[in-house]
Amino acid sequence: MRGIILAGGSGTRLHPITKAVSKHLLPVFDKPMVYYPLSVLMLAGVRDILLISTPNDLSLFERLLGTGEELGIRISYAEQPSPRGIADAFIIGADFIGSDAVALILGDNIFYGQGLGAILQAEAAVKSPCTLFGYRVQDPGRYGVATVTKSGVVTKIEEKPARPKSNMAITGLYLYGPDVVSKARTLTPSSRGELEITDLNNLYVARGEAKLVEFGRGMAWLDTGTHESLIEASNFVRILQHRQGVFIACLEEVAFRMGYIDRAQLAALGRGLLKSVYGDYLLSLAEISAKESRANTSPDKIEAVWG
Ligand code: G1P
Repeated sequence: MRGIILAGGSGTRLHPITKAVSKHLLPVFDKPMVYYPLSVLMLAGVRDILLISTPNDLSLFERLLGTGEELGIRISYAEQPSPRGIADAFIIGADFIGSDAVALILGDNIFYGQGLGAILQAEAAVKSPCTLFGYRVQDPGRYGVATVTKSGVVTKIEEKPARPKSNMAITGLYLYGPDVVSKARTLTPSSRGELEITDLNNLYVARGEAKLVEFGRGMAWLDTGTHESLIEASNFVRILQHRQGVFIACLEEVAFRMGYIDRAQLAALGRGLLKSVYGDYLLSLAEISAKESRANTSPDKIEAVWG
């Protein structure tokens, strides 16, 4: 499975902080926002990733993430010249997707919870035409909202409805088969001039091919769309990291835990970030792992987080 991170848009709702820089590069506590969705794709086992952003911002993402080689993954980049909608990502990424399945994650969506990687890996292995992830929220009208029958079949998705028919929001993480490209090409722009992800998903719903996986209350899906929610997300990360002594969305750690890089590579990345708490953390992970392997114990201290 391949992965796309969509990190475009003009971020007008967060002006003026997003006037000069992409929203997805803003800090969520101690890391750029884009680290969070990237870590989710990596946890899902995705190692070929296309990052789509605006012509203005793309070089900044490249400076931040490079080719991905240091993390044992491959990151390529593509421009979305104007905000033509989320479903446009599949048209831009058509060659990249080829005949593979694809996961799309929005660059401002933060997911956190035990077992997330295992859930995503299991869903990716099923290879359904369209897998959506639902999350019950207090304010569904801000999202795509699913109407689901008692037996769990999605009968309709409405984009930002004034009167939501349920509290089941569709999160910004989607898995599709390769035919998503030809389906996206049949869409016409909505009244706001965008190819809507909800229109695309409704094509699958109409054929009875949209599967909804509900993330339960043990999972966190955080919003970063407003100044308030942005600082709440930062606080969430700060509090958990401080309490547990483990980092959320630490890309180098995920790469190590997933077996994409080895301990020596992890330590080298830590040394490259010396003098930062983040670098210290990477070095301590490498040290713990070295000690554990010397003692021949299972390196499970942090694995509990990944479930
Ligand atoms: C987009 C989608 C919406 C989805 C949401 C998840 O909304 O259009 O269906 O629920 O992402 O973050 P936007 O963030 O563009 O308002």
